[in-house]
Amino acid sequence: MAGVHPRLAGYPAGMAKDFDLYERELWAGRAPAYERGFAHVTRYLVGPLLDTAGVTDGTRLLDVGTGPGIVSAAATGRGATVAAIDADPDMADTARRNVPGLDVRVAILPDVPFPDASFDAVAGNFVINHVGAPEVVLAELRRVLRPAGRLALSCWVMPGSGALAIVREAIEAAGVPWPDDIPQPPFLEHGETTAFRRLVAGAGFTDVTVDEVTWEHVVDPEVWWETGALSRVGTNGVIVGRQDAATVERIKTEYDRIIAGYAVADGKVALPAHALLAGAAR
Ligand SMILES: C[S@@+](CC[C@H](N)C(=O)[O-])C[C@H]1O[C@@H](n2cnc3c(N)ncnc32)[C@H](O)[C@@H]1O
Repeated sequence: MAGVHPRLAGYPAGMAKDFDLYERELWAGRAPAYERGFAHVTRYLVGPLLDTAGVTDGTRLLDVGTGPGIVSAAATGRGATVAAIDADPDMADTARRNVPGLDVRVAILPDVPFPDASFDAVAGNFVINHVGAPEVVLAELRRVLRPAGRLALSCWVMPGSGALAIVREAIEAAGVPWPDDIPQPPFLEHGETTAFRRLVAGAGFTDVTVDEVTWEHVVDPEVWWETGALSRVGTNGVIVGRQDAATVERIKTEYDRIIAGYAVADGKVALPAHALLAGAAR
């Protein structure tokens, strides 16, 4: 592979590195669309995540994979002292804009650019399912926690369903084959309660809990199509973005048919979301 990202030098070889390189392309330029679309779904878990991490006034918190900074904003509102990292420079800029004064750094997990035991709590909302080597990342997150410090991580139940799956179902219904060059997330095998608990405990954490959380995301179906498919957010968006106009039209027809099954009042749809929330102590 040409041009391995310099921040990934020395990283475990093979699939994990390929996946992380894929992820860099996946997020590049997507910050505005993510903020308009998916961030309204992930926002639901911000409060529970901060509760699980024990974030209160004065907590030193690291928010990993901050994206547009919604976890950092809420933690700052609780009086925490927050630092944040994201692999994507545009996401980091967005978080900086949304949370004035936030210490945001561009860093690619498992690289965590802070000394040992710097934080009382580490939180990551829907990022552990985006890393190439989750077990290496967990070890690094543990390193920067003080003894007895708290970890809280959320992820999607795998494989994604409901809100996450509708564009994929439309792609399949339109007969578009899954591209050969898109890697499966290494986290796939950990996206259920027992496996996620085992993964976190295996990294040396104690008092590990994993809870399932479900909710409904009420949204205008055209907004969901625009921010989730046409704006190339996530792998489904990448696949739609590779198609010619006629194929996109076919996928949209299938999308309209499938999403009509979720209709509620005022022309909106209520999309089910299904996540896991892990808590642990160092
Ligand atoms: C699904 S978004 C979640 C954003 C935010 N935490 C939220 O709650 O909406 C995943 C974020 O993780 C970032 N990310 C993905 N892989 C990463 C890695 N290896 N290191 C740091 N950030 C990463 C992406 O750039 C993106 O901003």
